[in-house]
Amino acid sequence: MSSKSYSEAHEKEVAEYLKKITHSYYNINSLPEYFDIYRISKNDPDDFWNTIAENNFEWRQKWDNVMSWDKENVDIKWFENAKLNITENCIDRHLEKLGHQNAIIWEPNDPEEETQYISYNDLHKRVNKMANVLKNHGIQKGDRVCVYLPMIPELTITVLACARIGAIHSVVFAGFSASALASRINDAECKMLVTADGGFRGGKTIDLKSIADEALKETPSIENVLVAKRTQSDINFEINRDVWLHEVLGQASEECSAEVMDAEDPLFILYTSGSTGKPKGMVHTSAGYMVYTAYTFKNIFQYRPKDVYWCTADIGWITGHSYIVYGPLLNGATTLMFEGVPSYPDFGRFWEIVEKHKVNQFYTAPTAIRALAKQSIDFVNKYDLSSLKVLGTVGEPINEEAWNWYNDNIGKKQCPIVDTWWQTETGGIMISPIPFVTPTKPTYATLPFPGIQACLMDEEGNELEGYPANGRLCIKHPWPSIARTVYGDHERYKNTYFSTYKDKYFTGDGALKDEVGYYRITGRVDDVVIVSGHNLGTAPIEDAINEHPAVAESAIVGFPHEVKGNALAGFIILKEEGETRKHDNVRKEINQLISSKIGPIAKLDRIHFVSGLPKTRSGKIMRRILRKVSSQEFDQLGDTSTLLDPEIVDEVIDKVKSALK
Ligand code: PRX
Repeated sequence: MSSKSYSEAHEKEVAEYLKKITHSYYNINSLPEYFDIYRISKNDPDDFWNTIAENNFEWRQKWDNVMSWDKENVDIKWFENAKLNITENCIDRHLEKLGHQNAIIWEPNDPEEETQYISYNDLHKRVNKMANVLKNHGIQKGDRVCVYLPMIPELTITVLACARIGAIHSVVFAGFSASALASRINDAECKMLVTADGGFRGGKTIDLKSIADEALKETPSIENVLVAKRTQSDINFEINRDVWLHEVLGQASEECSAEVMDAEDPLFILYTSGSTGKPKGMVHTSAGYMVYTAYTFKNIFQYRPKDVYWCTADIGWITGHSYIVYGPLLNGATTLMFEGVPSYPDFGRFWEIVEKHKVNQFYTAPTAIRALAKQSIDFVNKYDLSSLKVLGTVGEPINEEAWNWYNDNIGKKQCPIVDTWWQTETGGIMISPIPFVTPTKPTYATLPFPGIQACLMDEEGNELEGYPANGRLCIKHPWPSIARTVYGDHERYKNTYFSTYKDKYFTGDGALKDEVGYYRITGRVDDVVIVSGHNLGTAPIEDAINEHPAVAESAIVGFPHEVKGNALAGFIILKEEGETRKHDNVRKEINQLISSKIGPIAKLDRIHFVSGLPKTRSGKIMRRILRKVSSQEFDQLGDTSTLLDPEIVDEVIDKVKSALK
């Protein structure tokens, strides 16, 4: 049922309601107010977060303690012993006043297909039905449910249905391969998989179910697979395991009471790449995540009643979790969810959607901006973008040219750009301008959000207190939405985030501070490469390549790319040197292998076959040298005399130069 327009008579009431659910420090309206609130949050974090949490959410039971931090074990707890259910805060509490307002506007891949308008009332019913389906299939509080779905409403609904009954969702981006899916299912020992017959992405149809079937061959913990119908493709159906979602939803009740959750009960697991080893299942918990995503959403997007907010990310990533689903719904917002890609049916698709739904806040990635900026400006100018008020970017550093293009052509110099820096691990935005409050500066994420005690450290472990400064970005005090652990491996959590600098969270990013203290993120300082905004660890890619029978050893590095921000280059030693024809085949096979082990996003743009790799005398590959060579910074290689075999550097340079010809 469409609920596109809701009664004008309720408008005033709604505005008052939204004002009422947002109290005390919750709205930051001016720069002096920001500095005041920031100071309060720093001087007495407990009191600050107590006020925010107490006034703006519904609790079944209040907390005994705002925050505890056992530094030795890195055991962090927020709002201890509080009881709540995040879906009551996302949905139920809004029903009386916002029941008929759109919670979700779903825009399909194909503009010819109908838009879905899902009101808060509809969302309530659909989440409850899904929650009952999960329960009817044996899912209980604490069970892990893997969600491998395209960007269709069922994805948001499944996520919320899990939260409703206290099951832990683990969403796996639908572009990941069968083996990436299987390893994530196995790591979390998921009991159920929710997937679809297929998905549409631009002109392509993705056979999700057959990828899932492949993964399911090696996932013994899965008992049932719920299958949403999207592409109507012919699929394999295991009668004892697979269940058509539409059939069971049809029979499910629209009532489902929310499970009462403890503040620190896990809400979800989301995997992210690390420098080494398999992806880390970051665990986010209920209360702190709720408080922080709601608070940041409200201020960083300056959402106002009746606005339409659109984040173009996929819910398979943290941006989609926090700023398509939870943050907006916690604020009673209308959140737009888009199934497709910016280039289909043409490069005007984003702007067409902005015009069609009069989007007010638009949040995307630098990669998308760079790709769109390369197209004819007619794709932009065809559409009326005057509804836009705030523009956002996330996921990777934005270069000045892309920033200016976004500002000039999309915002028409009227919309502040919020360059939001954060991570899967942080749960919410950490450093960002607040629109109409913080003066923006191209390529700068500017100032930390209240509650975030950011700092720069040097390599010896000293804090760089003054500015300008250039160092490694750390956070000195826990914030409510920090991931609490790596699922099943707390040691890894401690080592990755809290062992580099004593009692500080180390982000893995380098940053600089300008002469007024504005932060600019300069990029990863570890072996993670951000390709098109996707966080990729080089080690798992090397592991995949090394499985090729012809490969002896490999090293992967990132290098700058005009559209993707970074692309990947592989330096590969073959067991036997072959002729060029064979090389071409191996190149193809290596990328196929990467696609099947990880996913097409991790494919290599350049593959160089070399006879050796630059290594230290102790055998460690000097990736720094490979990075510099791949970036064509041939004169910045530093001292290479300490290498085991310094001559190999010349060969590497020759190979890169000849590939560039
Ligand atoms: O290097 C930073 C980069 O993305 C990393 C986090 O990736 P992920 O966990 O996938 O989360 C992405 C979406 C929140 C960071 O360590 N990054 C993220 N936002 C920015 C950024 N780099 C520069 N500027 C940003 N605004």
